[in-house]
Amino acid sequence: MGLPRGPQSEIPKHPPFADSTLDTVPAPLPRPRVFAWVPIRSLSERHRPRILAHLLALDMNDRYLRFGYAAADDQIRRYVERIAFERDEIFGIFNRRLDLIALAHLAYDPSVDVEPQRASAAEFGVSVNVRGRGRGLGARLFDHAVLRARNRGVDTIVIHALSENAAMLRIVRNAGAVIERTGVDAEAHLRLPPDDHASRRAGALEQQLGELDYRFKQGARTDDPQAS
Ligand SMILES: CC(C)(COP(=O)(O)OP(=O)(O)OC[C@H]1O[C@@H](n2cnc3c(N)ncnc32)[C@H](O)[C@@H]1OP(=O)(O)O)[C@@H](O)C(=O)NCCC(=O)NCCS
Repeated sequence: MGLPRGPQSEIPKHPPFADSTLDTVPAPLPRPRVFAWVPIRSLSERHRPRILAHLLALDMNDRYLRFGYAAADDQIRRYVERIAFERDEIFGIFNRRLDLIALAHLAYDPSVDVEPQRASAAEFGVSVNVRGRGRGLGARLFDHAVLRARNRGVDTIVIHALSENAAMLRIVRNAGAVIERTGVDAEAHLRLPPDDHASRRAGALEQQLGELDYRFKQGARTDDPQAS
């Protein structure tokens, strides 16, 4: 693959803001799905510490599933330091305490903005903290990535996962991706339709609601100087 190995290696039936229970109550099995629309916020340079905290909280098995190897703390630190916010998109889901409970990295082929007419791809990587799993957050982040990539003119999303990663493969299979397995590794490709008026409107709306929700939670936490 010509793509950087960034992400892997080194909608509303209910009102928004309905995610306040995401990490407050340990859910029994089977865990309830989040059927309400969940706001997603785009992250920037200043969120590096929260991104790092989220990734460092993953145990070794999750790090293996996320990066394709059991990344040590220093390797995760370097990965976070090198995230190219000017090119890639990082977005996440926050709980009401503004902990980053789910994180996605959409790494763009560098040619995307330079040669908009050329076929291009983006690579998707994701992690959801243990308490948030099984509630549709991973799938929600993937759908959001599809929308963002479409609106940026990308025609294929690529996902590297381990063949054992049933949840990740389920997410991409549900979205219609073609999955190729080679031993322990699996590579999935999802072809995207071109952007249109509806996708651009949906993208803008998601962006605004994600930001609004974050400001709302921030307002409820005026005691927290870190909440920016
Ligand atoms: C993979 C991961 C992101 C999934 O996040 P999640 O929020 O728990 O997933 P969702 O709740 O959106 O579930 C997505 C689908 O997988 C299924 N699923 C969830 N957990 C599963 C499991 N352990 N085994 C099999 N299927 C599972 C769900 O039922 C759902 O399918 P459905 O919609 O057909 O019912 C999460 O497990 C994680 O962070 N893992 C560690 C890091 C990682 O593996 N990253 C992916 C590599 S890039």
